[in-house]
Amino acid sequence: MRRIIFLDSVDSTNLKLKQLADTAPNGTAVIADCQTAGRGRLGRNWLSRSGDGAWFSVLVKDARLTSLNAEGLVFCCALAAADALKELSRKEILIKWPNDLVLNGKKLCGILCESGFDGDKLKWSVCGIGINLNAESFPPELPYATSLRLETGFVYDSRQVALDTLARFDTYTEMLYNDGLEKLTGLIAPISATLGREVRAIYAGTELQGTAERLLPDGSLLIRTTDGPVSVRSGEVSVRGLYGYI
Ligand code: BTN
Repeated sequence: MRRIIFLDSVDSTNLKLKQLADTAPNGTAVIADCQTAGRGRLGRNWLSRSGDGAWFSVLVKDARLTSLNAEGLVFCCALAAADALKELSRKEILIKWPNDLVLNGKKLCGILCESGFDGDKLKWSVCGIGINLNAESFPPELPYATSLRLETGFVYDSRQVALDTLARFDTYTEMLYNDGLEKLTGLIAPISATLGREVRAIYAGTELQGTAERLLPDGSLLIRTTDGPVSVRSGEVSVRGLYGYI
């Protein structure tokens, strides 16, 4: 039985859950109607207006979690949300490595996983998922954003989508613990929006360009550059298509 905290408004569901992480049990979730300071990867903001989407986070502190398999949590989130949205919309939802869901070439969902350590030992991870469901428009600075409503014409129940995604997330985390990260990358490859494309990756002040060739068993992306293959890890990298978002 999962403990779920429903909030009308919060600064960020990730922040809230991180504050509770030391005492709350594994699986605790925070679901908010609105975030006043929603956070994206690489220090970006995440637009989280009331009614526009599912904004939620889940705490992972299973005894089987290690700093190695924690790299797979972002894929558990992506697969869980992709399944939930596919079933709901009957649309082709793709995963843009490592942490976006894409519909019709635009960003539908973003994922932010953060971890707490005790020295070298991983204590917990907080996985935050933001799904644009009902937004009717986005500001001009988000030209690649879309919502399920914009793509299908229907309005969705954001709490239901969050709960459905959380249930599927549990299935994928079991898979991660039992079968390893490689099993998840095997599921992502066929629905990847990234593989086979010309991409530009920016990390640690470095930029490289090449063809996104394959996902490695540890979840890294292998990019074939003119200087040879380079693998990039999901943590601090921004990957963009050479000719747009994907
Ligand atoms: C990204 O694409 O940069 C990641 C976006 C993650 C947004 C979600 S919304 C719920 C959770 N709370 C946050 O503040 N961020 C994540």
